[in-house]
Amino acid sequence: MAGKLMRAVQYNKYGGGAAGLKHVEVPVPTPRKDEILLKLEATSINPIDWKVQKGLLRPFLPRKIPHIPGTDVAGEVLEVGPGVRNFKIGDKVVAKISVAVGGGLAEFAVAKESLTVARPPEVSAVEGAALPVAGLTAYQALTQPAGIKLDGSDMQANILITAASGGVGHLAVQLAKLGNTHVTATCGARNIEFVKSLGADEVLDYRTPEGAALKSPSGRKYDAVIHCATGILWSTFHPNLSENGKVIDITPGANTMLKFAVKKVTCSKKQLIPLLLSPKTENLEYLVKLVKEGKLKPVIDSQHPLSNAEDAWAKSISGRATGKIIVEP
Ligand SMILES: NC(=O)c1ccc[n+]([C@@H]2O[C@H](COP(=O)([O-])OP(=O)(O)OC[C@H]3O[C@@H](n4cnc5c(N)ncnc54)[C@H](OP(=O)(O)O)[C@@H]3O)[C@@H](O)[C@H]2O)c1
Repeated sequence: MAGKLMRAVQYNKYGGGAAGLKHVEVPVPTPRKDEILLKLEATSINPIDWKVQKGLLRPFLPRKIPHIPGTDVAGEVLEVGPGVRNFKIGDKVVAKISVAVGGGLAEFAVAKESLTVARPPEVSAVEGAALPVAGLTAYQALTQPAGIKLDGSDMQANILITAASGGVGHLAVQLAKLGNTHVTATCGARNIEFVKSLGADEVLDYRTPEGAALKSPSGRKYDAVIHCATGILWSTFHPNLSENGKVIDITPGANTMLKFAVKKVTCSKKQLIPLLLSPKTENLEYLVKLVKEGKLKPVIDSQHPLSNAEDAWAKSISGRATGKIIVEP
């Protein structure tokens, strides 16, 4: 593929939102020793993509500008680097590309073998691309800080999942219900039936006073909160937590980091825990297997052609997605 050009969508400076995206023709990337070149079939958008464009992680991310965003991809293997052992040309795969490097909003992209997994025919490319960031974050939050065993072998735990209609939340509800959990969820009124259909035991509309107070309708106290929304104060969580209840904040800002430190120092029983995704291949394999077995169903908010990636970008920035937003080359 050396020298061949491909269509891609990139930004040339920080800021600008959807209007800052530019359609370009750039050389097809060449895989390095431990990399795989993919002909992309689907890419999902995550809020981190446009937050990086906004400059929230400046000067660390992205690694360089112009930058082609997009980290969660499904595609077919076209070339493998000389060190690649587990994949061959023609394999269908799902991969998580580093957010620093990106490349998903294009016809072709390179992914590290170490964060690439096989995609069986039972899992569509769109479902596969929906999984990496959202699925791995939901999985990590539930199994690590919250300590939920997804084989159901635990004592029952009461879990609250905020923004349960979003990319992370809708997968978190389904994963939580594989464990022995009672799930309370929050979402907007239009998504209440949707979130119930995912398995949530009780659902609160976050725009009502009861929803804003996060009170379980059945009077439960939460052992863990998978906090996928933003802007909820600790004072709102605190009265709703069990004695050793934990809030796992997946969008931690300075306030969360400070509270986390104070609670550690003061040995507080109720904890606020910041979570940053640390992606693991075996966990992505597990999620793909669950989808194959029909135990996890990524729900797609909307699908957009690469030629209209701006619409996908704007939808994600709006914060109104129900499930995952997909771009297809
Ligand atoms: N730590 C990490 O590594 C990591 C990984 C992944 C994501 N994240 C972060 O986690 C957050 C969620 O990501 P996502 O992909 O799930 O976002 P998303 O798909 O954009 O979430 C959108 C959904 O959230 C709902 N929502 C918004 N505010 C709400 C509230 N206060 N209460 C209940 N529901 C609310 C919206 O419902 P309505 O349309 O009805 O308002 C919409 O359905 C983002 O801030 C993202 O950056 C962090």
